[in-house]
Amino acid sequence: GKPWELAAHPRLAKGKVVGVVVLDGWGEAPPDPFNYIHVAETPTLDALKKGAPERWRLIKAHGTAVGLPTDDDMGNSEVGHNALGAGQIYAQGAKLVDLALSSGKIYEGEGFKYIQQSFENGTLHLIGLLSDGGVHSRFDQLQLLLKGASEHGAKRIRVHVLTDGRDVLDGSSVRFVEMLEEDLSRLRDKGVNARIASGGGRMYVTMDRYENDWQVVKRGWDAHVLGEAPHKFKSALEAVKKLREDPKANDQYLPPFVIVDESGKPVGPVQDGDTVVTFNFRADRMVMLAKALEYENFDKFDRVRFPKIRYAGMLQYDGELKLPSHYLVAPPQIERTSGEYLARNGVRIYACSETVKFGHVTFFWNGNRSGYFNPSLEKYEEIPSDIGIPFNVQPKMKALEIAQKARDAILSRKFDQVRVNIANGDMVGHTGDIEATIVGCKATDEAVKIILEAIEQVGGIFILTADHGNAEDMAKRDKSGKPLRDKDGKVQTLTSHTLNPVSALSSVKVPIAIGGPGLAPGVRFRKDLPCTGLANVAATVMNLHGFEAPDHYEPTLIEVVGN
Ligand code: 3PG
Ligand code: CO
Repeated sequence: GKPWELAAHPRLAKGKVVGVVVLDGWGEAPPDPFNYIHVAETPTLDALKKGAPERWRLIKAHGTAVGLPTDDDMGNSEVGHNALGAGQIYAQGAKLVDLALSSGKIYEGEGFKYIQQSFENGTLHLIGLLSDGGVHSRFDQLQLLLKGASEHGAKRIRVHVLTDGRDVLDGSSVRFVEMLEEDLSRLRDKGVNARIASGGGRMYVTMDRYENDWQVVKRGWDAHVLGEAPHKFKSALEAVKKLREDPKANDQYLPPFVIVDESGKPVGPVQDGDTVVTFNFRADRMVMLAKALEYENFDKFDRVRFPKIRYAGMLQYDGELKLPSHYLVAPPQIERTSGEYLARNGVRIYACSETVKFGHVTFFWNGNRSGYFNPSLEKYEEIPSDIGIPFNVQPKMKALEIAQKARDAILSRKFDQVRVNIANGDMVGHTGDIEATIVGCKATDEAVKIILEAIEQVGGIFILTADHGNAEDMAKRDKSGKPLRDKDGKVQTLTSHTLNPVSALSSVKVPIAIGGPGLAPGVRFRKDLPCTGLANVAATVMNLHGFEAPDHYEPTLIEVVGN
């Protein structure tokens, strides 16, 4: 195989402390009243942008540049951090599932063959995010899977739907449920007993991540598996419509509900002999449920009943844990990441974020691997996120705490790389709360200031970028870029990440900046790379550590000029 040893960079010295800062959900967009990064006070980041032009630029963070099916796919944290850490572009889950479905290979794989054995006598349950956001799942993939599974023998199907409103517009749950009901009714016409059985809002039911709050998963377990929830309805359409009547309700946080028959009995709890497929391709928000569905020994909450089922994930969510053990599509094999290279070349790494983004700078960064490459060189530190408090209520989140940890790690001189993710632009942006997003952006800037000051003190180098856009555009727009208004004349809030095909920048890009006293004077961004994205960052970071990047990496963004 290829060697792991990295060649010394001919011009750049080893041994500098490198601060790697990822701002989550921080794109670049024209100044505009709905660009809350622009509206917020961000003097530190403004100074980087207005500073040396050869040390600030824009790079792509969406579409094919990060391994998504098309350039109409907005970026997200999974593919963004994968690309940042891996330095190479891999076809991502969304695309691999597309290929497996369109070729029909999905039905020939081990995973499908495994679940198929229960189709004769058991029910097939499909659990996942009902959305066409393309971040965790896609509606058209669910449609194809429903059709394909029924053509391959599934006779009784129950769908458990998690409403989105986070990667798609709030309120779109109603339309998705309507469309799904149409598909299920077509299946019923063909003699398949197919129904929606339960559901809830993704942020309140089932789709927690990084073990922030197991109660979220328990609510989902109770509704999907046990058939128990505080709200019972005759149909899912009635459920989402009724639950949304509460003026405070939104798709992301709908309470759990169960569909019942005329006699009040749940139509689709999971029973012995059934099959479950979690149809999200993205790992972070499905891996907790996967544990509950798969592990014999499990103590995170009382499952009450642990049905004997055949379970498969759309993908294998954790390659290290081999979880789930059965899956319909093989995940991207992200190999030879920069974290592994650097650890094998003696670089000491510290990574930190708060719970809700912790796996982003560790698990995703390292190619979907939990754990260390070399525990004696690496330290990953998680700051507990606030549990049960919406991020628009605490928009500063843990930005300050993360910055202080990073500062301490930098000043300790025990690490060569100090890597953080600062979550506010994204997590607060997803709430759609304007005032809160402005506060969150300001807090981000203050955190960056602390980290850059520490880098200054130790004579280090910083590299700062973002994984995708979010807070820089919070208005849904028409094709000409004009904000869309709802029937009351209010501008429609964009809670999702951004894909700004109409802006002057042609599509959303994220900033990248380098600097610090340790950066050799002749270092600047290259001008000969017109098409660059997040995958170019890893080679750049290796250079800043004094190494040449391996040949199979996307090219570095920097060059050294002069003597
Ligand atoms: C989420 O999971 O919160 C959103 O769907 C995507 O956000 P992220 O990609 O920034 O984590
Ligand atoms: Co996000």
